[in-house]
Amino acid sequence: MKIRSIIGYAALAVAVGAAAVAGRAWLTPAGPEPQPPVAGVPADLPSSVARGEYLAKAADCVACHTSQGGTPYAGGRAFRLPFGTIYATNLTPDKDTGIGNWSDDAFVQAVRAGVGSHGRLYPAMPYTSYAQMSRDDVLAIKQYLLTLAPVREATPANTLSFPFDQRWGMAAWNAVFFREQRFAPDPAKSVEWNRGAYLATALGHCGECHTPRNAGFAMKSRDYLSGAEIEGWKAYNTTSDRSYGIGAWSDEQVAQYLSLGHAPGRSSASGPMADVVEHSLQYLTPGDIAALVTYLRSVAPATSGAGAADGGATIALDATAARASNAVLPGSAAGVSGLAPGLARGQRLFAGDCAGCHQWNGVGRQTDYASLNGSHAVNDPSGAALVQVLLHGTSLTVGGRTQQMPGFGEAYSDSDVAAVANFVLSHFGSKAGTVTAEQVRKARAAQ
Ligand code: HEC
Ligand code: HEC
Ligand code: HEC
Repeated sequence: MKIRSIIGYAALAVAVGAAAVAGRAWLTPAGPEPQPPVAGVPADLPSSVARGEYLAKAADCVACHTSQGGTPYAGGRAFRLPFGTIYATNLTPDKDTGIGNWSDDAFVQAVRAGVGSHGRLYPAMPYTSYAQMSRDDVLAIKQYLLTLAPVREATPANTLSFPFDQRWGMAAWNAVFFREQRFAPDPAKSVEWNRGAYLATALGHCGECHTPRNAGFAMKSRDYLSGAEIEGWKAYNTTSDRSYGIGAWSDEQVAQYLSLGHAPGRSSASGPMADVVEHSLQYLTPGDIAALVTYLRSVAPATSGAGAADGGATIALDATAARASNAVLPGSAAGVSGLAPGLARGQRLFAGDCAGCHQWNGVGRQTDYASLNGSHAVNDPSGAALVQVLLHGTSLTVGGRTQQMPGFGEAYSDSDVAAVANFVLSHFGSKAGTVTAEQVRKARAAQ
C-alpha cells in the first residue's frame, strides 16, 4: 500500500534534511485542544469502549494493523519497499509486544504526531490525517483496543537499509510537510457537514488515497480529492464535479456506494476501496453516511489538470454513455463480425470467461455487484482498474455476504488481459481502450 509514496517520503526525508534543519522548526506546536462538537459518532453509544470501537472502524485501523490471515489488530502487515520492508505494529493489549504498557500520552503522540516507540513513524501510518482527531477520540480508540484479547506477537523489525532506516529523517519531512492541526469545526456550516468533514478527514483519511501528492509526496491540498493512483488502482476524483467527480451521482447512489460498496448504475468498490467499505464504511450509521455525502457534495469541483498530472486519474465519464445491449450472444457469428481483430479476441475471452457472471448487457447475473454499466472501471480508457481486477480479482464482504471475482492473472497472458480489457472498454464504455501487453507486464511486476 502506498508503496510509491513511502519511497518518496523516505528519499525525500533524507534529501531535505539539511534544508529543514537550517530553516525550520522541528515540529509545529499543536494548537489548543478543542473538544470536538462533532465527533462523527452517534451520541447514543453506551460507553466509551463502544465509542472507541466505532471510531477505530471509522478510522480503519484494522486494515493495516492486521497481517494477511492474521488476528485482527495483531500487526505484522508488511509494506514492502525496494530498500526494505516496514511492518504495521501489534495494537492488542499484550504488555511486551502490543500496547498494553503504553501511556495515554505515548499513544496519542504516535497516532497524531507520528512519534512511535522507536522514534518518528513513516507516514504509511496516516498520522498526517489522524492529527486532526481529538485527544478524547484517540483515547477512546485506545480504551477499545485494551479490551481485545492480548496477542503475543512481536512485530518484525523493519529491514530498511541505510539511509532509509534513519527515522530522524522523518522529522525533516514533517517540518516541511506536516502541520499537526486539530479539526476545527466551521461554525458557518451545518452540524451535519462538520460531522461529515471530521469523518472524511480526521478519521476516514479519504484524502490519503484520493488526493494527488506533490514531488515531496505530501498531499496537494489544492487538488483535494481530485484523484490519485494507488497500488496500480485509481482512487478516482470524488469531488463534486459532474463529469470528473461524483457530482452527477444521486445522494442515494453515493450513500449506497459507501455503505454497501455498490451503487446501481455506477461502480462497485473493488481493490483498496473494497477494503475500505468492508472494514470501515459499512459499519457507519446511516446518519454518518449521510453526513459524509453532505460533506463530499461540498468539495470544490476539480476537473482535468489536478489528477491528470498523476497519470490521468481524472476521467471525463459520460454518464449517458451508451448502454451495451444483450444482443451479442456467446458464439453468435454476429458478435464477431465488424469488430477490429484485437477486439474480436477480447470478445471471445469475454464470452468464455466473463459473460456468465456479467452478461453481455452488463447487468450482472445473481448479484448487482457484477453490473458493469456506468462503472468507472469500464469507462477509463487507461483500463487501470480493469487490469488490476483481471490480474488479481477482487472480493468484498458486506453485511455477511461476499461478492467475489476470481483473478485471471495465472490463466491469462499479458496480451490476453489487454485484449479483454480493451473489448470491455469498447463494449460497456464505448471507449477506445489503450491497454497494452506492456502495461499489463508492468502491472504484474509492480506487485
Ligand atoms: C494505512 C495503514 C495504517 C493505518 C490505516 C493505521 N496504521 Fe498505525 N501504523 C502503520 C504502520 C505501517 C506503522 C509502523 C510505521 C513505522 O514503523 O514507522 C504504524 C504504527 C502505529 C503505531 C506506533 C507503534 C510503535 O510501536 O511505534 C501506533 C500506536 C498505531 N500505528 C496506531 C494506529 C491506530 C490507532 C490507527 C487507527 C486510528 C492506525 N494506526 C491506522 C500503518 C497504519
Ligand atoms: C486505501 C485507499 C482509499 C481510501 C482510504 C479511500 N478510498 Fe475511495 N477509492 C479508492 C480506490 C482505489 C477507488 C477505486 C475503486 C475501484 O476501482 O473499484 C475508490 C473509489 C471511491 C469512490 C467511487 C468513485 C467512482 O467514480 O467510482 C468513492 C465515492 C470513494 N472512493 C469515496 C471514498 C471516501 C468518501 C473515502 C473516505 C471515507 C475513501 N473513498 C477512502 C481508494 C481509497
Ligand atoms: C464468478 C463471477 C465472475 C467472473 C467469472 C468475472 N467477474 Fe468480474 N466481477 C464479478 C463481481 C461479483 C464483481 C464485483 C466485485 C466487487 O464487489 O467489487 C466483478 C467486478 C468486475 C469489474 C469491476 C467493476 C467495477 O464497477 O469496479 C470489472 C471491470 C470486471 N468484473 C470485469 C470482468 C471481466 C473482464 C471478466 C472476465 C475475464 C470477469 N469480470 C469475470 C464477478 C465475476
